[in-house]
Parts: sequence; structure tokens; C-alpha cells
Amino acid sequence: MAEVKLQNICKRYGRTEVIRDVSIHVKNGEFITLVGPSGCGKTTILRMIAGLERITSGSLYIGDVLSNDIPSKKRGISMVFQSYALFPHMTVSENIAFGLKIKKYGRNEILERVKWAADFLNLNELESRMPKELSGGQRQRVAFARALVLEPDVLLLDEPLSNLDAKLRLKMRSELKRIHRKLNTTIIYVTHDQVEAMSLSNRVVVMNKGVIAQTGSPLEVYNSPSDIFVAGFIGSPAMNFLNGIIIKDEAHLFIDFDGFKLIIPEELRSNCEKYSGKEIIFGIRPEDITDKRFSLNNEENSIDAIIEVVEPLGDKDMIEAATGDTVLTFTADPGKTESGMHIKIGFNMIKSHFFDKETGKIL
Ligand SMILES: Nc1ncnc2c1ncn2[C@@H]1O[C@H](COP(=O)(O)OP(=O)(O)OP(=O)(O)O)[C@@H](O)[C@H]1O
Ligand SMILES: [Mg+2]
Repeated sequence: MAEVKLQNICKRYGRTEVIRDVSIHVKNGEFITLVGPSGCGKTTILRMIAGLERITSGSLYIGDVLSNDIPSKKRGISMVFQSYALFPHMTVSENIAFGLKIKKYGRNEILERVKWAADFLNLNELESRMPKELSGGQRQRVAFARALVLEPDVLLLDEPLSNLDAKLRLKMRSELKRIHRKLNTTIIYVTHDQVEAMSLSNRVVVMNKGVIAQTGSPLEVYNSPSDIFVAGFIGSPAMNFLNGIIIKDEAHLFIDFDGFKLIIPEELRSNCEKYSGKEIIFGIRPEDITDKRFSLNNEENSIDAIIEVVEPLGDKDMIEAATGDTVLTFTADPGKTESGMHIKIGFNMIKSHFFDKETGKIL
């Protein structure tokens, strides 16, 4: 096991800066996930850690060793690529054994380790098959086995589940948790899928355009996003955002939207008060909006709305409701809502978020 420290890492291709001032401290045995939209620099960071890409500036420590110039092979790191990159002309066993042969392990040790990895990932019956004779999930497991036989201190996984269908992805997700629990290897995982990031890891690093937007536990980034990007990226369906103006009168602090008002609860007052008279962006998650017909919470602010779209998802309905020009998304118990209905919707204001309109930062 080893910890990995990135200190002020930058990466430029010619004049183009693709990673700017990234610092991450991955603890021993931690499962950390880099998550962000396509092109934000996730793969580039993994490749720099693996030694497949030069670091333009900043320091990379693996364990206590400054590793910027240590060759890839000597870093104690294995990487599983999105494409699996299995050798098509080798059997499953030969694929798993390949890295061990390169490292000149003895014949018996190779046999032993390959057997261990095949057992661990349920590949025993497939050992003599060729990659083209395997399903996507089986290929994925061979790619994991090939990385794990090397007993890496650090395992780097670049979107390893993205080629699998939804059901298999769920299965491999729990498989991956099992691998981590048993081996306690330090894992750095990359995905653009925020649900995957939230469900797998101890901590997530949310990236946007080559910089870190926020680092925290899954619940921290969900409950306390540091800016509007993180707020919109984490959570599904996505947070609702509305433009409003904060107004103060004798009794209350409230937000004035085009056509309705919501009272800001005492607990959030201190953050919002200094924005009195200013435009802000108000954010509320679909799960913090309710149809008042089914809500027990009388404290909530509520407004009139008309249901526009109902999407049945089985366990719940996803609903879009309009109030004036504003459309809000929320979920409700299935089968109780129809388009065209007039309802009152309630806002659990204590769970609301307020963002500076200029900077996008949380107030
Ligand atoms: N060899 C290269 N030369 C120039 N630019 C590059 C090179 N490799 C990557 N980039 C740029 O660096 C940025 C980050 O790329 P990277 O592959 O790290 O993104 P990513 O977050 O992994 O995206 P995805 O989710 O699509 O895999 C992109 O804008 C990409 O175009
Ligand atoms: Mg990538």
C-alpha cells in the first residue's frame, strides 16, 4: 500500500494548459474518485501518476518518494484502461501472466499468482479462452486480474465500467468494492458518472476544465457543494436553479422570483443577508421539493404550479411543474400525478443553496 500526493501539478501541451494547480492527497488504502465532464483532465492526471505522461510542473509523491522522474515500471502502480487493452492473441491465463513474465518472476510463482487472480475474479473456467471468446464483463475481469497479480501499491482505474451495460455495471461496481475491501489497495478511480463516483468511493474529487472544483466525501459534495458547477454536476436528477433577488423587509429575508417569493429560514439568514438587494442564483434539489398533497411538513414555503410532464420511473414519478416561466423538476410517489393538474409545491428551504451570480460560488 502507498499514499499518493499530487502537489500543485500542472500539465501543458505546447501552450495549452490542460491541468492547472491540482493538489490531491490520496491516503493509504483510500478509494478516491476523480469525476468530471469529458475533457476536464481526468485521464491526463492518471497517466501522469502512472508515469505515461510527463508532469510539466509540481511534485508527485508515491509513498515518500518524489516520483516525477521515476520510470513507470518502478512506481509500483497498475493501471486498467477504459479499453481493457487485452492482448488478442493470448489466452486469459497468458494475459494475466504477462506482467509477471516481464518482471521475470519464476515459473511456479507465476502459476500460483495467476491461479490466485483467476480464483479471486471467478475466471477459472475461462483460463484457456481467447479474449474474443469472452463477454464484456469477463474481459473487464481479466483486465482487473492482470492489474491485481502484480500486487500494485496503487491501482489506477480509468472508466473501467463504461463499456458495460447497465446491469453488469452495477454488478462490477459491487465487485470493485469487494476487491477494495479485501485487498485494501490504494485506488484512484476515474469516471464521468457521478453516481458511480458517489457510490464507490471514500472521497471524490470533482474536476472542471483542468482544475479541482471541490474535494470531499460523497455526502459533503452532495450536501454542501462549493459552487454552482459542483451543485449541478453531483446529484440526479440535477439540482434546480432559479434566478432571484434577495429582499429584506421588517419581518423577513426572502427571495423574490419573477412571480413568487420564498422566505429564507433563520438558519441561512446570516449568509444571505449581505446580498440584500442583489441578484443571486437559488438552488434546490428535486428531492427537496414536494407535492403539498402528500407532504407532512407545514413549515415549508409553497407556491402554485401546473404539472407539465410526468415521467413514470416505476418506483417514483419524475415531474416537471411550471410556475409562470419557471419550470421545476422533482419526484413524487408513482401514479398520483397527471399533466395539467394544478398543485401546490413545497420547498424544504433549509436544504436550499444560494450562489453568487457573478462567481458561481456558494454564498
Ligand atoms: N496529447 C495531447 N495533446 C494535446 N491536448 C491533449 C492531449 N491529450 C489530451 N489533451 C487535452 O487535454 C484535455 C484533457 O483530456 P483528458 O483525456 O485528460 O480528459 P478526460 O477528463 O479524461 O475526458 P474523457 O472523460 O472524455 O475521457 C482535453 O481537452 C484534451 O483535448
Ligand atoms: Mg478520459
